Amino acid sequence: MSTAIVYCSQTGFTETYARWLAEELGIDAVPYSRRAHSGAQAADTVVFMSWFHAGGIKGAAWFKSLMDARPGARYVVVGVGAYPMPSDDWPQSETDAAFEHTFPRDRYPALAHFYCQGGFDFDRLCALDKIAMRAFFRMQARQAQTDPRIAFALDAMKKGFDATDRANLEPVVAYLRA
Ligand SMILES: Cc1cc2nc3c(=O)[nH]c(=O)nc-3n(C[C@H](O)[C@H](O)[C@H](O)COP(=O)(O)O)c2cc1C
Repeated sequence: MSTAIVYCSQTGFTETYARWLAEELGIDAVPYSRRAHSGAQAADTVVFMSWFHAGGIKGAAWFKSLMDARPGARYVVVGVGAYPMPSDDWPQSETDAAFEHTFPRDRYPALAHFYCQGGFDFDRLCALDKIAMRAFFRMQARQAQTDPRIAFALDAMKKGFDATDRANLEPVVAYLRA
């Protein structure tokens, strides 16, 4: 059974997870820019790892076209975002909603999705995303005055953080090995 891993990463957090997963599976992880040479078009299982962007997942259009073209293969998406791993304060429903919005269940019923918290590194963003994030910070600053959850998240993003943790991949590895 062949498996291909394609990852899309701007600031490196998704790339870290992709390298860890590749190590676990003993295969290569291929960057999005080289996706045509990833073997994804013929693999039995395709794992797409990418980062959350404004409630969506970067590169999702390509992954959807792949699934549409070859519905018989097994597909897995691993989304990486700044949002914390699920807990009472940070419900999984919020990340599930982003997956559902990007890959509607009625259209992709067999797609398995997993979430891993990445991090945030303002300095490594492209110019357009820096502008978007400055506007986002301004917007959040108002809400942070009344919502401690938002105040916490805003503070972490402004300082920058790395929450990558290999253990977050355990459910993905277990699913792929099953
Ligand atoms: C413009 C922009 C929008 C983002 N939107 C989200 C989001 O909707 N949800 C989330 O959890 N993280 C969001 N993030 C945070 C990134 O997903 C996070 O920093 C991720 O770890 C980046 O992965 P990378 O290092 O592989 O590029 C956003 C970041 C940027 C720059």
